[in-house]
Amino acid sequence: MQVPVRSSLEGIEEYKPGKLVKGAIKLSSNENPLGPSPEVIREIVKSLEEGELNLSVYPWERNEEELRDEILSYIGLGTRMKKENIAIGAGVDGVLDTLVKIFIETGNEAIIPVPTFSLYESLVKIAGGKPRYVKRESGAQHFSIPVAGLISACNEKMKMIFISSPNNPTGNCISEDEVREIIESVPEVMVVIDEAYVEFADSSLVNLVTEYENVLVLRTFSKAFGLAGLRVGYAVIPEWLEKHYKRVSIPFSVNSIALTAAIAALRDKEHLRRSVELVRQERQFLIENLQRFFQVYPSEANFVLVNVSPAKSYAVYEELIKRGIIVRDCSSFRGAGDSLIRITVGTREQNELVVDALEGIFL
Ligand SMILES: Cc1ncc(COP(=O)(O)O)c(C=O)c1O
Repeated sequence: MQVPVRSSLEGIEEYKPGKLVKGAIKLSSNENPLGPSPEVIREIVKSLEEGELNLSVYPWERNEEELRDEILSYIGLGTRMKKENIAIGAGVDGVLDTLVKIFIETGNEAIIPVPTFSLYESLVKIAGGKPRYVKRESGAQHFSIPVAGLISACNEKMKMIFISSPNNPTGNCISEDEVREIIESVPEVMVVIDEAYVEFADSSLVNLVTEYENVLVLRTFSKAFGLAGLRVGYAVIPEWLEKHYKRVSIPFSVNSIALTAAIAALRDKEHLRRSVELVRQERQFLIENLQRFFQVYPSEANFVLVNVSPAKSYAVYEELIKRGIIVRDCSSFRGAGDSLIRITVGTREQNELVVDALEGIFL
């Protein structure tokens, strides 16, 4: 007999990752087209050969400490930040899982401005909480968050607010003034700013963590650092949260290869610079070429959002697959409608192929 599972699992959708088709160009998961830094590969191989990395022992605390130090110098807030402000996890996904366990219990609520990254919603529901969706503005507002509406949606059950900035899949950022207004209006609610794509953006909001107790910022090694397969991410948190994070997070959730890789990735500043430069240049190429046919939204991330209406996004997605290119059909994002596709910025060659393919479909 099948044993009954928790009722809070009802209505939770399984996470659907970007599709993988052998031989096709994958522009569906916002990965780095240059791959990881060659220094990362060298360091992993060298550490394994020299025994510094020993796969039969649990990850060393020393390596985690070293990574936290490297992250501190990378975010560059000087003495205003300490190791206690950095929490590491198995990707932003892993960090989010821990955070939701810390803040949400049955009957609590969390605000999610949609369309956005779907994991926030799933984790809140799994924890027995209730997501409150706030629809981002449409039309000329380009998916900005209705700040006054969001604040007025807060009640005594509200525990978390999830703001992806740059937002997946829309590519836009929230302004510092707007976030301050939210943080200051609801001091008893944790404001989570997901900066998974911040390296491609014009600015960051990480400095806010030094000023307020109810804000934290998430970052990842999966995008600009090209380490999505290794699953490393971190949160910049107010100091008081560290003890709770340590209590709740799974021990050793970041494996020793991932720790070694993340440290080496932060040290190779040149690879990061090249990756970001490529995305900024190629994002512009994609936008200029695609906006001849479609509405393309401004983006501060490593992807662009394209409105293919009156065509349907799933039909365009299918047509592109036939031509060997995988993009993201955004109809699975709550509140995104059925005419948006998201295209990861690739190399010039890949971007030319996707522009040509779309021209071929529509002309
Ligand atoms: C907004 C956002 N946050 C987090 C993630 C997941 O990051 P990670 O690979 O670090 O788990 C993604 C992945 O696409 C994302 O779009």
